[in-house]
Amino acid sequence: MLNLNQRENKLFFEELSLEFLAQQYGTPSYLYSAAHLDKKVQSFVAAFAGYPTTICYAVKASSNLNLLKRIFSQGIGADTVSLGEIKRALKSGCPPEKIVFSGVGKSGKELKEAVRAGIKSINIESLFELELLGQIAQNSGQKVAIAIRVNLDIEAPTHDKIATGSALTKFGVALEDLDSLRDLLRRYPNLQLKGFACHLGSQIKVFDPIKTAGRKLSEIIKKYIADGFDIEFIDLGGGLGISYQENEKAPSIKDWAHALIEVASSLNLELVIEPGRSLVADAGILISSVLGIKKTKAKNFLVIDAAMNDLMRPTLYEAYHHISCDLKDKHGSHDALYDVVGPVCETGDYIAIDRILPDNIQAGDLVAIHTAGAYGASMASNYNSRLLLPEILVDGDQSQLIRARQTYEHMWANEIDL
Ligand code: LLP
Repeated sequence: MLNLNQRENKLFFEELSLEFLAQQYGTPSYLYSAAHLDKKVQSFVAAFAGYPTTICYAVKASSNLNLLKRIFSQGIGADTVSLGEIKRALKSGCPPEKIVFSGVGKSGKELKEAVRAGIKSINIESLFELELLGQIAQNSGQKVAIAIRVNLDIEAPTHDKIATGSALTKFGVALEDLDSLRDLLRRYPNLQLKGFACHLGSQIKVFDPIKTAGRKLSEIIKKYIADGFDIEFIDLGGGLGISYQENEKAPSIKDWAHALIEVASSLNLELVIEPGRSLVADAGILISSVLGIKKTKAKNFLVIDAAMNDLMRPTLYEAYHHISCDLKDKHGSHDALYDVVGPVCETGDYIAIDRILPDNIQAGDLVAIHTAGAYGASMASNYNSRLLLPEILVDGDQSQLIRARQTYEHMWANEIDL
């Protein structure tokens, strides 16, 4: 974590101490480093600068309006998966012509609104969606730009729950449906097929799958071009893996760009990419206070005030998030093994299992849970009637609340008190 560092036995996030930030905003809270986010955006822009590319940030990874504004103001577009995300993108200044809309279950209402907004592409994932959109386009009299997201039946090594490339997953149009799809397309002249898309999954740390995908998709595209379709772009999705642990190797943005550009340039098509995690994960941490320590014969439990409803990843994907401690006891310590758990009433409520932490950690100390900028706040819930957390943007020695801690009144605002 680039912007979290130890100075005189204290943890600092950019130029502010965690102690100060915790006092100011309370815990648990999500913190984002403006410097790190900007740096990541610039790395993406630089890596793809030599080739016509639309970088569409996957809004689902972290969707706070202020973070989006910051990302879009630097020329990045949006990959969206619901009307809510399209609205967030537009509200944060993303031009419609840089928005792509993916997803296996877009409703008629969502499709109509996407057509009205005039976005870059609606990425079709089934025959039924093509028919629905075809009718909507016909009724509106508008031309609608679409891409076909193809399920290329490629398995990429990652956690099962975030692998989307195999034929056993719900994503994309099946290879065997591509002929029927072409015939259907001819019935809807208002649908303009501009591109082809694929997305193999998330947290992928090898290149072979995307290279195979590039080859397979290129063959399909060439056939469509030979059939007279005027294809403009190839969308190779997101999925670039990152390093959550010190010794975990992940590809560089540059090498990823090189592999993707090779595919697009061999077809002479514009490249579209949809990075989420790789753009924002490292920019965020979750800070939490130690509530107490329970030492039993079997285990040491470090009970903190953040829980699975705040950060789902450990329990949902057995994901590793590194933890740093800001200790009040500055004297020497030894290693001890802890389960880091939250207050939620589920055995699966943990942030880490069997984690080595200092044995002098005590109630009131702070912990920083690393790499929480992607799929952290955006996946949080009110489970156990716990309030959604505040989000804070830290910029040098300045900090700004970009989302207030939810209030109890907000939590039950839509419930009807009969
Ligand atoms: N494009 C599409 C169509 C996607 O479904 C996704 C992620 C992305 C792009 C962005 O992928 P990324 O670059 O972030 O890998 N909640 C899980 C990750 C779910 C990813 C869902 N789709 C996690 O916390 O690991």
